[in-house]
Amino acid sequence: MKNSKYHYYNSLFKNQSLPLAYCDLDLLDKNIKDIANRTANAHKTIRIASKSVRSTSILKRILDSHSIYKGLMCFSGSEALFLSESGFDDLLLGYPIVNADEITKICEATKNAKTIVLMVDCIQHLEQINAIANAIGTIQAVCIDIDMSTSLPGLHFGVMRSPITSIQKAKKLVDAFEKFPNIKLSGVMGYEAQVAGLGENNPANGIKNYVIPFLKKYSNSDYTYRRREVIAYIKSKNITLDFVNAGGTGSIESSKKEDWVTEITVGSGFYSPALFDYYENFKHEPAVGFAVQIVRKPSHNIYTCLGGGYIASGSIGIDKQPKPYLPEGIKLSENEGTGEVQTPVEYNGKEQLSIGDTILFRHSKAGELCERFNQLQLVSAGKIVGSALTYRGEGKCFL
Ligand SMILES: Cc1ncc(COP(=O)(O)O)c(C=O)c1O
Repeated sequence: MKNSKYHYYNSLFKNQSLPLAYCDLDLLDKNIKDIANRTANAHKTIRIASKSVRSTSILKRILDSHSIYKGLMCFSGSEALFLSESGFDDLLLGYPIVNADEITKICEATKNAKTIVLMVDCIQHLEQINAIANAIGTIQAVCIDIDMSTSLPGLHFGVMRSPITSIQKAKKLVDAFEKFPNIKLSGVMGYEAQVAGLGENNPANGIKNYVIPFLKKYSNSDYTYRRREVIAYIKSKNITLDFVNAGGTGSIESSKKEDWVTEITVGSGFYSPALFDYYENFKHEPAVGFAVQIVRKPSHNIYTCLGGGYIASGSIGIDKQPKPYLPEGIKLSENEGTGEVQTPVEYNGKEQLSIGDTILFRHSKAGELCERFNQLQLVSAGKIVGSALTYRGEGKCFL
């Protein structure tokens, strides 16, 4: 059908080398604007989670788009060094690293006036960074990760990351900084994954969806209190923090209500992958996806494509496989799903599909798709207007 969304993409892609991953710049730019608007009027900046983008040119596009975007949250030491060498600055490691070589290189970059902040959550982290920074003759900035999950009888609502699970534990770690002259407490981060990364309407969660909104509400008051008290304690010690980081795509509205939070991390919302279709409060555009090619037709209304099995990380579930996107109405086979080399889809709709045409999917998560492709084809106003190298396309594989 000439005016369909499917026709728009299929006519662009079917004569390209397939499979391909693409980024629709018109939709990406809308998401960038909408995310800035969601965060606006709260005196907060947005730190971009690089793991959910994994392309330096797209990271740059987002950073350059609006003054609300400031700094990156990196996911590994070597990635932070790569980004620093590529000209990015104001980098926060979102997760602790203990590789001495990487910490050394980061301390050296810090000494050379780069801003790269390491994540810590225990004395061992402080000891190691302090010793390396001391040997190099610098003061390394670090950020404390406070656990934001909520523990209820028989239910852990949240993720297992930081051992700083109480105000008391946070105070103890803050006090410990006095013993380490070569590190500076620069920031505090708390990632409320159970709010930011969990949609209310994901069909894969079944009846749990009924209780998720209540749990989110309860958890929000639990961790908000904890974060506020920790920040107040740090202030009472006359320590001036450079930033207090919170949240993710799914928690912008709640994170921005906390006056003591200075910045919100956002990653997934820019590409808006399939798992981000299931939130009650917002809906972003499906800016990134991939196209596979129909190569055979084993039976009536079944079209088998080459490639497609790009499964997402995390607990195993049906929602981790790519989501059929276009033409509207395509269905995966339960037996085969998206395969290592072959993906059959069933289609009974109005589009005339032929061998050589494409089928479009969206990845379940945002940045992981970039580990399967060297570039994203860039689409705008009905044309392929260029391509953006992914980390993989730049020869990089960090985790
Ligand atoms: C510590 C931390 N903050 C923020 C985010 C960003 O979340 P999102 O990709 O949902 O925007 C993540 C993603 O996993 C994270 O690990």
